[in-house]
Amino acid sequence: MSDFTGEAIPEPAALPAAIDRLRRERRAVILAHWYQRPEIQDLADFRGDSLALAQAARDTDAEVIAFAGVHFMAEVAKILSPERIVVLPDLQAGCSLDEDCPPAELAAWRREHPDHKVVAYINCSAAVKAQADIICTSGNAVKVVESFPADQPLLFAPDRNLGAHIAARTGRTLELWPGRCFVHVRFDAERIAARKASRPGSVFIAHPECEAQVLQIADFVGSTSQMLRFVQDSPAGTIIVGTESGMLHEMRRRAPDKTLLPAPCHKDVPGCDECAHMKRNTLEKLYLCLRDLAPRIEMDEDLRRRALAPLERMLAL
Ligand code: 13P
Ligand code: SF4
Repeated sequence: MSDFTGEAIPEPAALPAAIDRLRRERRAVILAHWYQRPEIQDLADFRGDSLALAQAARDTDAEVIAFAGVHFMAEVAKILSPERIVVLPDLQAGCSLDEDCPPAELAAWRREHPDHKVVAYINCSAAVKAQADIICTSGNAVKVVESFPADQPLLFAPDRNLGAHIAARTGRTLELWPGRCFVHVRFDAERIAARKASRPGSVFIAHPECEAQVLQIADFVGSTSQMLRFVQDSPAGTIIVGTESGMLHEMRRRAPDKTLLPAPCHKDVPGCDECAHMKRNTLEKLYLCLRDLAPRIEMDEDLRRRALAPLERMLAL
């Protein structure tokens, strides 16, 4: 592959064109999650929720995957497409759910529940995935849980709120790991209800990582892509959106005539509804990772194979 590492970093205004050129020269595909900065989403070849991005990473024939998202998402891309170079603009872009679930502690929890199967939400490390029987995303968790016989006891990790929501939706008893998304737990049910009451005819939609009292007052709960479809299809003129604020960029583009309001947090702190991990990625870092083909996601082959099996079970559903 050509060496572009000596190339000077372009001025900010020239970055999109430089990224586009490098993408073609590197035979790269840029995948972006809906929480990425608008300027990154606008450049991406493919945008989506965790499930759609995993499928795109599996199906691409590009030589390089530049993953504008967080570490566990890029890891999934590497697990599914080991022959490709996978780069992440900022290796520090993590996830609080991943941090809340150290692999050794999960292993101890599994030993305490030898009769249980493990459903792992995709927001976790490869070392946690490798211990799971199946992976799920917020978009398919109901289907995944229902794929087990009704009498099969299940452990669900790491997101407690998603797990409790899926237990209620399916009528199943799930043992829940106490992980939380540090962004979604900031939304405030009372303030959301007040905002809704002040806008007659408005509806409130939420991501399932929100707390139970927030989900209880939601008119719709779904993954980021499912929320986007709801916004496009809903007859409501005003929609209050309970998820990371990056999501509003595409929602406003697809539904320009609707009033889309971010859900209020517990405190009026600017950026309270932003995921600091997702926002670590910038156009300059995206340019650099395509220029230098670094930082790369590398993985031990034995770990990759063990993490692949439960991911494939999910994708086969
Ligand atoms: P989605 O799979 O719904 O896009 O969720 C990913 C995520 O990290 C939510 O915080
Ligand atoms: Fe993780 Fe929450 Fe950020 Fe999603 S929004 S990547 S769950 S910390």
